[in-house]
Amino acid sequence: MREGMNDQVMLVNNGKDFNHENLRQLFDLGEHDLPALLSYANQIRKKQVGNEVHLRAIIEFSNYCSCHCLYCGLRAENRKISRYRLTNQEIFQSVQTAVNYGLKTIVLQSGEDQFYRPDDIARLIEFIKKHFDVAVTLSLGEHFRQSYRIWRNAGADRYLLKHETADPILYQKLRPGKNLQDRIDCLMNLKDLGYQVGSGNMVGLPGQTLTSLIEDVLLMKKLNIEMAGIGPFLPHPDTPLGCYSAGSLSQTLKILAITRIVLPTIHLPATTAISTINDNGRRLALESGANVIMPNFTPLYVRNQYVIYPQKIDIIEDPEKSMKNLKKLLKEMNRTISMSYGHAIKIKKYSYYKKEAYHGFGSQ
Ligand code: 5AD
Ligand code: SF4
Repeated sequence: MREGMNDQVMLVNNGKDFNHENLRQLFDLGEHDLPALLSYANQIRKKQVGNEVHLRAIIEFSNYCSCHCLYCGLRAENRKISRYRLTNQEIFQSVQTAVNYGLKTIVLQSGEDQFYRPDDIARLIEFIKKHFDVAVTLSLGEHFRQSYRIWRNAGADRYLLKHETADPILYQKLRPGKNLQDRIDCLMNLKDLGYQVGSGNMVGLPGQTLTSLIEDVLLMKKLNIEMAGIGPFLPHPDTPLGCYSAGSLSQTLKILAITRIVLPTIHLPATTAISTINDNGRRLALESGANVIMPNFTPLYVRNQYVIYPQKIDIIEDPEKSMKNLKKLLKEMNRTISMSYGHAIKIKKYSYYKKEAYHGFGSQ
């Protein structure tokens, strides 16, 4: 490791004093120093969370969304995609497939779909928890605290809600009608209700500054989140941002590495978006601090309708092929597949689901 870089990493790491200035020094490291930074993050990953890679089965059960995010292909205005909702039967079938492959976490993901009442989702969670030995992660967007409470009581363990960008002005521009503070309030509600919480951001958004990328990491540190989904922005042709360029691989890896350094025990997925910009993206992310992979178990016949951003055809694989490739990659890398639920390190000691009293609607 080059001496200058070493000093900067040590400064950030040892002092446990994470502030805008010392993080900027890491962000400012040039291409020449990048390999050393990534490999340092890889060492921290190994020391803090080991060689295990946690697999989370993602099931995209509805692509309806009432939001208007300028970057996303599922935005309400996009009339070019056909919308679907999986039946409960189809969802359970997908869960069964994931369980057959040994996966221990199911991620239920959808757009912000007003069709479902909180109780519908609660029944779904209860059914899955009753019939399968899995942890359940939800990724359903912004909802009332009371809904989050009902779902937690139904057995949900974790919640993913990326803050997308820590720049409040850019946030409002890119998510018309929404604001960053509401998003942060949701994240705090989720933490308060005992969820393990994931956040994260996109890298290379039009109008995003280096300053705001540093703030992304600091915000996740401040919220003390358990997981961070970090991926490059990828332009979708049927959105208002379709003609902008994608975020870069090296910038994304750099931010992954810095996040690992700042939050050493965090769960960091090698996101699909990273694999989309580079064929080797998954491996590179796993060598830069990542320790989670989220294979897709959405039925293939709707997969091409859940187009947040255009994906390369070769990563839209059936579970058989994708699990085979995944196992091969992990074997080559001397990494093992975790057999546990893969809960956050911080709360491992405790029972993974603590039921809290339900006092009905309106009570906070
Ligand atoms: N490029 C990359 N990521 C995107 N997301 C949405 N649109 C894009 C895009 N064009 C991410 C957001 C969101 C998640 C579901 O997908 O971070 O939280
Ligand atoms: Fe909906 Fe999420 Fe896409 Fe925004 S990013 S349009 S909330 S699915």
